[in-house]
Amino acid sequence: MGKVVTIKNNKGGVGKSWLTLQLGHALTLLEKEDQTPYKVLLLTSDSQNNILTYSGFENLKIEKTLEDFVKKGERNEIRLRENLYYMPLEKSNFSKIFREKLKNSITILKNEFDMILIDSVPVLEIDQDFLEIADHIIIPTYMDKATTEGIIRLMDEIEIEKIRAIIPNRYIKSKKSDTMYNELKESLEGTGIFLTDPIKQSTVIHNLLEDGKTIWDTKSKDIETVQITIYQVVEELLR
Ligand SMILES: Nc1ncnc2c1ncn2[C@@H]1O[C@H](COP(=O)(O)OP(=O)(O)OP(=O)(O)O)[C@@H](O)[C@H]1O
Ligand SMILES: [Mg+2]
Repeated sequence: MGKVVTIKNNKGGVGKSWLTLQLGHALTLLEKEDQTPYKVLLLTSDSQNNILTYSGFENLKIEKTLEDFVKKGERNEIRLRENLYYMPLEKSNFSKIFREKLKNSITILKNEFDMILIDSVPVLEIDQDFLEIADHIIIPTYMDKATTEGIIRLMDEIEIEKIRAIIPNRYIKSKKSDTMYNELKESLEGTGIFLTDPIKQSTVIHNLLEDGKTIWDTKSKDIETVQITIYQVVEELLR
């Protein structure tokens, strides 16, 4: 039975979609104990489907969506990379019946995929369902005051024992952001939540994104520290 991981922050632009893709791709490059690769599915509550652009599928004609699967059982996931699939979302409005059926649909997918990663934006409470369904939660964040206050509120609202890692992303080094990082690190001591090294706001990452490439599609030395950070998070998910 596969695990569900929800990537969550109420704040926009912190890197939820990008990190969902990087984590998913990382997993597919590992092997399970029986030496077969992990099969990974990415989902989203965001009908912008940014993951498609970020993985190089910008002008793809979408045939089947999460709605088709939940309502009619029809599916045709997009293969982004070997063993990495994406089920796009058509609209960001969800009926009560859709939300009721969603959980059951995810259970079906758990039989087929080792990990389902969900890029979750706050829309019409469907993100609430995605938090409930989740076995693990990952919080990408930004090291400024408002976003940090936001994640502290979020940690009060969700089941804290589900949170596996917090990933400061788009990090711009300054005295203030360093202090904030250290304070967050202290406050997480003893919680079992892994605070990663910050991932810098980086031109290399920006360029990869523009080219529809993940951090695993490049041999650039500049990206090695980011790869290590992502693998550390994957290890937390597999523990
Ligand atoms: N470490 C990074 N360095 C440079 N650019 C980055 C980095 N992380 C993300 N980005 C860029 O920042 C923007 C926001 O990233 P992303 O779309 O993943 O955030 P998001 O949290 O999913 O946002 P939204 O809430 O709007 O869906 C994108 O344009 C992405 O290309
Ligand atoms: Mg997004």
